[in-house]
Amino acid sequence: MKATAISPANIAFIKYWGRRDHNLFLPLSTTNSMNLSECKAITTVEFGDYSKDEVIIVTKEGKEKVLDRSEGEKTGMLFQTLDRVREFAGFEYKARVVSRLTFPFKAGIASSAAGLSAFVAASFKAAGLKEKFEDKKELSREVRLAGSPSAARSVEDGFTELLFGETHEESFTQKIADENHWDILDIIPVIASGEKKVSTSQGHEIAQTSPFFDARVEYLKGKSEIVKNAILERDFDTLAKYSQADTLNMHAIMMTSEPSAVYFAPESIEFIRLVQEWREEGIEVFFTFDAGPNPHLIVSSKYKDHILKEIEKLNFVEYVLVNKSSEGVRFDDSMSTF
Ligand code: PMV
Repeated sequence: MKATAISPANIAFIKYWGRRDHNLFLPLSTTNSMNLSECKAITTVEFGDYSKDEVIIVTKEGKEKVLDRSEGEKTGMLFQTLDRVREFAGFEYKARVVSRLTFPFKAGIASSAAGLSAFVAASFKAAGLKEKFEDKKELSREVRLAGSPSAARSVEDGFTELLFGETHEESFTQKIADENHWDILDIIPVIASGEKKVSTSQGHEIAQTSPFFDARVEYLKGKSEIVKNAILERDFDTLAKYSQADTLNMHAIMMTSEPSAVYFAPESIEFIRLVQEWREEGIEVFFTFDAGPNPHLIVSSKYKDHILKEIEKLNFVEYVLVNKSSEGVRFDDSMSTF
């Protein structure tokens, strides 16, 4: 009763921020993203004669972090998911979970997206619940329900979308195009890999306190469709225009919520300025930020070396991750973490 799943994180173009239902984790609108080849979680789950559930994250630096049920919404949801799996499977076995990340933990690089999708997939597989892990639609619903609509997007390959839905059934992940469809990169110059002050779970709960919240809901209408078509047509300019506008729009909500959540660092703003300069020089590049200070530079692969050389000039960049689009969740017991 042991299984290992590997899942990529993803970078959203139209972002999820705030929920229309906090129990079912239904997002406000359809959101879409690209999976990231170098930002993965490898998670092994075993159900057996353990005295209690134990969930351990091993960070990129090899540090072990034992998670506690009371640590916060997302962590609590991990333990609730194990309860849910047991209920479906009809057994009482406790679980041991070890999840290895290949990238920094909680630095706005969607570590939870990779971690959660791998965790949910491995849990259902370890329990032998085929109807839950073999059907990607159903698996994506379970990942969403485990607390993260953004993680649900990692279930499918390449470029994906999590559909808006009024009910649990209606909100699931669909593939837009597979990982070989478009040669664009997500280059992440890591400027800060510390943990953030306002968790995304808290952020989703306070989003509605922003005076601009209703304006965002209105603004989002039709945007995921435009971005989806831009992906299908490999239309870089349209993707850049709408994705960049969306991240700034989302950060406006974050900053004007009660309490205010400011994820940008001074260096994040410096990147916004640099990207504007590079665009004016005709380079196909745009920025997007999740709930963290690290910029994600979406770059047409022909400009990879140019952008990497530009980044090298900046002394505040700790290191750089270069991601291609990637397949989604897969299972591989030979990668077992214990
Ligand atoms: O799924 P969460 O709770 O980690 O929220 C993440 C939301 C953003 O990364 C900021 C945007 C997105 O859609 O990925």
